[in-house]
Amino acid sequence: MNDSALLAFDDEWELAIALGHQMAIDPQLIECHRFPDGELKLRLPDLLPRRVVLLRGLHQPNEKLIELLLAVPAARELGARHITLVCPYLAYMRQDIAFRPGEAVSQRHIGELLAHLVDGVITIDPHLHRIASLDTVIPGVRCTALSAAELLGDWVAARRTDALLLGPDEESLQWVARAAQATGLDHAVCRKLRLGDRDVRIALPEIDWSGRRVVLMDDVASTGRTLVETAHACLGAGARSVDVAVTHALFVGDALAQLRAAGVGEIWSTDAVPHGSSVVSVAPMLADALREQG
Ligand code: R5P
Repeated sequence: MNDSALLAFDDEWELAIALGHQMAIDPQLIECHRFPDGELKLRLPDLLPRRVVLLRGLHQPNEKLIELLLAVPAARELGARHITLVCPYLAYMRQDIAFRPGEAVSQRHIGELLAHLVDGVITIDPHLHRIASLDTVIPGVRCTALSAAELLGDWVAARRTDALLLGPDEESLQWVARAAQATGLDHAVCRKLRLGDRDVRIALPEIDWSGRRVVLMDDVASTGRTLVETAHACLGAGARSVDVAVTHALFVGDALAQLRAAGVGEIWSTDAVPHGSSVVSVAPMLADALREQG
């Protein structure tokens, strides 16, 4: 892979270093200047090889989509012929249908945008629910959807040998089931009703909660309200402890404070999104996927 360039932005530099280490190349920085009116100017290395790996996760997505719109054609002008986007967190995947007439199906539109931009996409635990495959979302592009469920499962199993892995909603079954299969831990999922951005209701599955050590697992935590309500419900039903393990630690606003107030103990995540809770690195699996895509 050392005939490739690895380009990254400064806020993802730690992951860029880790990924570069796995690929045996040094990452190169894309400099980003913000003008007073909010416009962005990017500066890339001025000579690029044919193959370029661009690391850009889409947490705080709107800004970063503009960065992609600028960085990818600029990279092509500077010599790149094949660009693989390593996008550890792929945003806009949750709006996969029009829930009310007139709503934009963001997943499809952002997917098509990426399809026009890059030649390959590698991501982790994209929120695919009603649409089974990332190839459908980003048509005509080599896509790899990895999962951090086993990594997180192993981390949990080493610290909570008797944990019950609990998904807060039916969509999370895909992740908790994978983690449970890898570790032999018990698993279950709740039912969730979302009434608003910060208003969710959780119904626990009917099991004996007394004394259980619960670890909530999900692909993404944003406002944290899904996890907060689930933690409340578990502790109210008699669980001994509740910890949290998520792939993508967005944790916006007061999410962490709300989780602590709800009685959550440990909060663990991957480094797919830069965050203080990160305990396991996705860099090795990203590098394997890059080698596999060729
Ligand atoms: C959606 O179903 C996802 O898997 C998460 O459960 C959800 O996005 C979490 O959002 P929040 O943290 O805002 O409740």
